[in-house]
Amino acid sequence: MSSENNDFFRIFENDPKFREIMRRLFESSLEHSFNGILITTDGPGYPIVYVNDAFCQMTGYGPHEVFGKSPSVLQGPNTDRSVLKRLNEDIENGDIFHGKAINYRKDGSEFMMEWKILPIQNDEGKASHYLAIQKDVTKEMYHDQDVVDIAPTEKEVDLQ
Ligand SMILES: Cc1cc2nc3c(=O)[nH]c(=O)nc-3n(C[C@H](O)[C@H](O)[C@H](O)COP(=O)(O)O)c2cc1C
Repeated sequence: MSSENNDFFRIFENDPKFREIMRRLFESSLEHSFNGILITTDGPGYPIVYVNDAFCQMTGYGPHEVFGKSPSVLQGPNTDRSVLKRLNEDIENGDIFHGKAINYRKDGSEFMMEWKILPIQNDEGKASHYLAIQKDVTKEMYHDQDVVDIAPTEKEVDLQ
């Protein structure tokens, strides 16, 4: 359900403490999320200004090791460039990006990252920041692979 369909966010509209309550809700949601959360500005290379604990656990990077750097620090030789091309196009068009690509932890090990990027607009309707929601889906992908590999083919079933 999107926030537009959710009346909860309108309850506080006339409350003078609205901004502070929203700040606490926002901060708690990010800090305790099971997903990695990464926020960048719209500056050159999209410099990182925030990462949560789940991001640090997933990637092995501490917050101060990535602040000011581009999220492309997560990329390496096996990262699919066609996904990044689509990401650039979506960002330029102001669309939400959703995709998967191989990323690299600080120790150089590979994992499959699934992530969304949402533009956060300022009062002029221009994206001033980008919010990424990230997940390590390596296990799910291996599990899907196992299901395909161990599922008997029609021919094998007939032979039984
Ligand atoms: C908010 C945000 C989060 C991003 N997160 C990732 C990520 O988790 N993994 C990744 O490979 N690239 C991520 N990127 C993409 C890279 O930072 C970069 O934009 C992309 O590689 C395209 O730029 P390039 O054409 O200079 O390579 C993210 C970009 C933004 C704006």
